[in-house]
Amino acid sequence: MIRIAPSIIAGDMGMLAQEVEKLEQAGADMVHLDVMDGHFVPNITFGPGVVKALRPHTTLCFDTHLMLADPAKYAKAFADAGSDRISFHVEAQNPPRDTLKYLHRLGVKAGIAINPESPLQRILPYLSYADFILVMTVHPGFYGQKLIASVLDKINELSHIIRRQGLDLAIEVDGGVNLNNIARVHESGATELVAGAAVMKADDYAGAIKALKHECGA
Ligand code: DX5
Ligand code: ZN
Repeated sequence: MIRIAPSIIAGDMGMLAQEVEKLEQAGADMVHLDVMDGHFVPNITFGPGVVKALRPHTTLCFDTHLMLADPAKYAKAFADAGSDRISFHVEAQNPPRDTLKYLHRLGVKAGIAINPESPLQRILPYLSYADFILVMTVHPGFYGQKLIASVLDKINELSHIIRRQGLDLAIEVDGGVNLNNIARVHESGATELVAGAAVMKADDYAGAIKALKHECGA
């Protein structure tokens, strides 16, 4: 089982409604929404108003990735706007356990994101409170970067820990995933793959999504 989550920031930012409609037609499994505050990361994208405006344009799962210094402050606005899943960074300022519980109270699936340089140990205390872990394979801030291959070991280790603990926890991988590396990323234990440039820069979204899945044997 593999799910592809195209990131719309790599698409036409002036045509976001059409982009999500196109992704639904193309067979995307989720829409990945990269929210950046210009503080936690050196870039700014969009806020809850844009998520709300996009909501009527698709029934696809909205996978909202908060790259915010204070995610707890804005989580409710993104849940109310129609996010189905929300991830926040373990490197952000809020206590992760409280934030995961808060997200569940808001009625969304909750994920912890972890940056490439952060050790796995930072998230281990929170695994049983999360629905998914978002492992970053680039430094967050921009689409179109190269996947940092050394993070694959971390994904492998995480997937072993999840299996050993018998947890119902998905691994999502985000950053630089493409046709050349998706098989390795999937083999390391990820079942949810974000794809920015690999889908949104393709002429044929459906073909790109199909090809990515095919590489994973799906
Ligand atoms: C990076 C974002 C990613 C990115 C993915 O800060 O969190 O979701 O947009 O784009 P690609 O797949 O092009 O790296
Ligand atoms: Zn992302």
